[in-house]
Amino acid sequence: MPQELRAVAWTGTGLALLDQTLLPHRAETVHVRDVDTLVDAIRRLVVRGAPAIGAAGGYGVALALLQGRREGWTDERTRAAVARIRAARPTAVNLMVCVDRVMTRFEEGPDAVLAEAAAVQREDVEANRAMGAHGADWLLKRIGEDRPLRILTHCNTGALATAGWGTALGVVRELHARGRLERVYADETRPLLQGSRLTAWELAQEGIPHSVQADGAAAGTILRGAVDAAVVGADRIAANGDTANKVGTVGVALACADAGIPFLVAAPTTTVDPGTATGDDIPIELRDEREVLEWAGVRTAPAGSRGHNPAFDVTPGRLVTGLVTERGVLEVAAGELPGERLR
Ligand code: MRU
Repeated sequence: MPQELRAVAWTGTGLALLDQTLLPHRAETVHVRDVDTLVDAIRRLVVRGAPAIGAAGGYGVALALLQGRREGWTDERTRAAVARIRAARPTAVNLMVCVDRVMTRFEEGPDAVLAEAAAVQREDVEANRAMGAHGADWLLKRIGEDRPLRILTHCNTGALATAGWGTALGVVRELHARGRLERVYADETRPLLQGSRLTAWELAQEGIPHSVQADGAAAGTILRGAVDAAVVGADRIAANGDTANKVGTVGVALACADAGIPFLVAAPTTTVDPGTATGDDIPIELRDEREVLEWAGVRTAPAGSRGHNPAFDVTPGRLVTGLVTERGVLEVAAGELPGERLR
């Protein structure tokens, strides 16, 4: 991904967000200088992916401070604005973790806040590089070095979803860089086709062989023996290893378990939430029902139909073969609970 196409960038006066609702056909930037625009951008998936919204939220604290100074807000009002950013989407814990981390510098003013937000972004790229190497090492050791691997992934977890490089897609990119990747099956993903628009775009830019498939095709592709392992990202990992990720992920995990192939979750430790005991405690974002009742703004379902549109689902920890973080690979299904190990 060219350097100038970063998902989240601080311009000196505000945030530049690459509009992920328009890619791959249009590369347009949304310039954000106020809190309302940022909250709207996070909700509409202009910026999306757990680490990327964490990075945007971190810079959002600076935005709120600067807007507050321009408009004469009290500290209380600025803090309330930050709380709205923190709550813009409920499932990805990275948003809350990053906002809270940057808020520890709030009293020191915008420069300190910006330095912390930049550190969050920088550390995310470093974590992704480490994850890529750990995940690739583990897969090659576990599956064997004799032939290139066929990997299935769900949603977009690449440079667009993070501060750079990617989590699950970082593992894929590392395998490709080592000449150990045959093909990627990219599930198309609801609600905005993040897989077919964004993952396929990132893979195409790197010349990585890939096939886009409907989410509903994933289980069949796995059971047919066409996949060696699934590698997905996460929005929140509970203390017992239960993992919230893009809706459809649990079906992929069930198929992997049945086929006896590894199901890996790649996520930075900022996605692990020891304060959430199990997947039942993870808040799942329910989005506007029109996203499933309409297609490109045109109603497709009958007038009386209701929509059910959860953005995420929870994969039980027992189905997660391994959790890839910047620190290494924990074999969750073998009883190494992430909450215990990563606290
Ligand atoms: O609704 P989205 O596009 O923000 O959902 C994104 C995902 O579910 C990703 O898999 C997850 O955030 C990890 S991104 C590295």
